[in-house]
Amino acid sequence: MTKLRTTLAAGAAALAAFAAPLASSQPAGKLKVGLMLPYTGTFAALGTAIENGFRLHIEELGGKVGGREVEFFKVDDESEPSKATDNVNKLIKRDNVDVLVGTVHSGVAMAMAKVAKDTGTLLIVPNAGAGAVTGPMCATNIFRSSFSNWQPGYAMGEAVAKRGHKNVVTITWKYAAGDESVGGFKEAFEKGGGKVVKELSLPFPNVEFQALLTEIAAAKPDAVYTFFAGGGAVKFVKDYAAAGLKKSIPLYGAGFLTDGTLEAQGADAEGLITSLHYADSLGTARDNAFRLAYANAYKLQPDVYAMQGYDAAQMLAIGMAGAQGDPNKKAEFAAALQKAKIDSPRGPFTLSASHNPVQDIYLRQVSGKENKVVGIASKSLADPGRGCKM
Ligand code: PHB
Repeated sequence: MTKLRTTLAAGAAALAAFAAPLASSQPAGKLKVGLMLPYTGTFAALGTAIENGFRLHIEELGGKVGGREVEFFKVDDESEPSKATDNVNKLIKRDNVDVLVGTVHSGVAMAMAKVAKDTGTLLIVPNAGAGAVTGPMCATNIFRSSFSNWQPGYAMGEAVAKRGHKNVVTITWKYAAGDESVGGFKEAFEKGGGKVVKELSLPFPNVEFQALLTEIAAAKPDAVYTFFAGGGAVKFVKDYAAAGLKKSIPLYGAGFLTDGTLEAQGADAEGLITSLHYADSLGTARDNAFRLAYANAYKLQPDVYAMQGYDAAQMLAIGMAGAQGDPNKKAEFAAALQKAKIDSPRGPFTLSASHNPVQDIYLRQVSGKENKVVGIASKSLADPGRGCKM
């Protein structure tokens, strides 16, 4: 017994000696990154593009951030808010991830943000624009590499008012992203002298647009503003043209309407004008390098989602360098990002106090298979971040 105690004590002392230098330097082992993205359903292509972009930058860094090799864990969130809490807990409790990256759908992202806030796990949102994430739910450990739903909507509201349209009908999916995109549009459009005369919606992810298109035809507005994305955006643009509306009532949208979708939309998308923090023809050295690297790696053209995934990895690397490889040093992680100018393919951007990108919103027009820049709808646009108290 005494012998056993002595052996144990010696073992503990040896362990302590081993642990001491580790505690004062960076933590050992791999950095576990949990990707929670949609790999099925209407947003499946968006999830894949985000993962591709994220991995591309990690590879550019030699597979390491903050001096630690990155190890991936994945969950398909199916864009299903009712499964979101269970899914995020699989990554946190089962896989013990250090960082969460996700997701596309605003309703799922809000559930992720709640768990991230409660557990203190780092979260970088590479798409979902829910205002709450960088508003009421804002936290030292929660960041977004994309946009808030309000941003492209607001910029488009100003642009559509400037184009002289007076009466607009809006149409979208009935959930946070649609409501907030339309809300941003309406705020700016009505400030600019226009009126939103009808707000149409259908449940996510339905694509039975026919009855609503009939209502639009009957209302005869000057223009239509819409938020749809992924598979739903493909179908909406095709149905709008097939209903004969494209030639009589100009269709505008947040740029997701025509991003990553042009192959499938074909001629029905030609000429459409949208607003977004990215475009296919920026022509900067930074964007050209990104697009070439992405095309070489995946034999595909990147889209806004790929770019946001890439920037999520850039943000992780900046934060982890500031935190010396220790994801528990959240204040240091946040401080590094707060003072960073992120060298994005979209153009350099900074983060607001609530950790949402402050960025230019481009006006783009579809020409062939590209969203071509036709102007800047809004320069250095910051989300109002209403209700954020860290
Ligand atoms: C969202 O749910 O916030 C969302 C989804 C797809 C997009 C943009 C926003 O393309």
